Amino acid sequence: MAAKAPAPATRHIVSINDLSDHDIESIFEIAQAYLERFPDPNFPYRIRRSTNLASDFILASLFYEPSTRTRLSFESAMLRLGGDVITSADPLTSSAAKGESLADSVRVVGNYADVIVIRHPRDGAARLAAEYSPIPIINGGDGSHEHPTQTLCDIFTLKRKKKNLKRLKVAIAGDLKGSRTIHSFVYALARLGAHIVPMPAPGMELPAHVDRRLREEFHCTFGRQGSIGALYMTPEEPHQPALFAEPDFEFEYKRSGEKIAAVYVTRFQKERWAEKDQSYPKIDAKFLRESKYSQASVLHPLPRVGELDVSFDSDARAVYFEQAAYGVPIRMALISLMLGLEGKSFETFQGGFQKARWPLYDQPLGLGMRCCNPNCIVHDAMEGPYVRNKFHVVSIGDSVMLRCMYCENDVDRFVVASKKGKWYSADAGLLAKASTQKLKDFVFYQNDSDALDNGYHSRKPAAA
Ligand code: NCD
Repeated sequence: MAAKAPAPATRHIVSINDLSDHDIESIFEIAQAYLERFPDPNFPYRIRRSTNLASDFILASLFYEPSTRTRLSFESAMLRLGGDVITSADPLTSSAAKGESLADSVRVVGNYADVIVIRHPRDGAARLAAEYSPIPIINGGDGSHEHPTQTLCDIFTLKRKKKNLKRLKVAIAGDLKGSRTIHSFVYALARLGAHIVPMPAPGMELPAHVDRRLREEFHCTFGRQGSIGALYMTPEEPHQPALFAEPDFEFEYKRSGEKIAAVYVTRFQKERWAEKDQSYPKIDAKFLRESKYSQASVLHPLPRVGELDVSFDSDARAVYFEQAAYGVPIRMALISLMLGLEGKSFETFQGGFQKARWPLYDQPLGLGMRCCNPNCIVHDAMEGPYVRNKFHVVSIGDSVMLRCMYCENDVDRFVVASKKGKWYSADAGLLAKASTQKLKDFVFYQNDSDALDNGYHSRKPAAA
């Protein structure tokens, strides 16, 4: 029997879409104020002094994967705010090595600290942590799912360089499939109305579920498909984000003269790929000499491991170290809002971007199908007793799909079985109007044979 998760006590930041546009603006305003209040006369991006605003608070870092920037800038941010920090940075020296689940760890650490920043190799781990934690969880990167606070640093940097991001063409290069930074970043770009120019390494295109959300939830439209697999994307209303093919961009560029405003480079996420020796493009000063990049700020979440040549570091367009420096003021601002340090707090805001609230299907892990993403936290043996089969039932137009509540991957082929009627049907359309309550009557299976094996018989829903 799955353990019962406590009711959510507070705001957690698992996805960039857990923050409303207003929240993001507030974070940027406070970060800017900290930069002005605690300046370093020699280094304009650096916070130099500390305050005692957070003297009653403790931040816990719970890191199950390597980190330099995220953990240290969070810890620096908390120390600059006058708070304290406790750290578990190595899963081999924490109770995880003894087999303790994340769900138990956060319930324990929740009594030792006031906010937890967590990093984990599994997609959806931060959402699971948020289900069980009595205190706010901040996602410091979960598998290849999302890394929302990196996106805050990225967008803050871009805004300082380009002011308004509407219709700006932002190229995203490299491992678009495995990079969690990219996934949070593209949602934010689409929300801000930027035009996204994907330049994936071969075979490393945006995952299908991210691509689908960009089109269907964020109203991005695609340009013509290009021959090199790069796309160019633009939002619809009131300024449509577009995904256009690189050759389309060339066409556009020749027509309008509009250049690429920023290039966001990522490393090959080799820890997320079985095949470690894949060919990977390198971006260097020569590549960026082309006229279409002449005004492009070059960003990188870092670390880089050869894909962005050091020959470019002295170029005025290279902003990646500045971007990394903003990790401190941005995370100071985020912590400040989460803990209500400046008299402002997230709790007073109607947070979250999600316009559509989809009903939730929720069944025990032993019943029906699991998420199809093998790296989802639901497949982690240690978390087995704590996770459930939880999917948002997403209806768009005529199609109904299941979006895993943890990792947000989509399942679009499944069968619906009626617990009472003992029939199953491949017609997912019958779920289109089902409420969360009504969904309790159903069990989902991956295919007919799974439904048959579990004692259901094929039947048309109309005849049920
Ligand atoms: C990124 C991450 O961990 O996802 N690093 C970071 O937090 N700045 C990017 C990466 O590891 O490639």
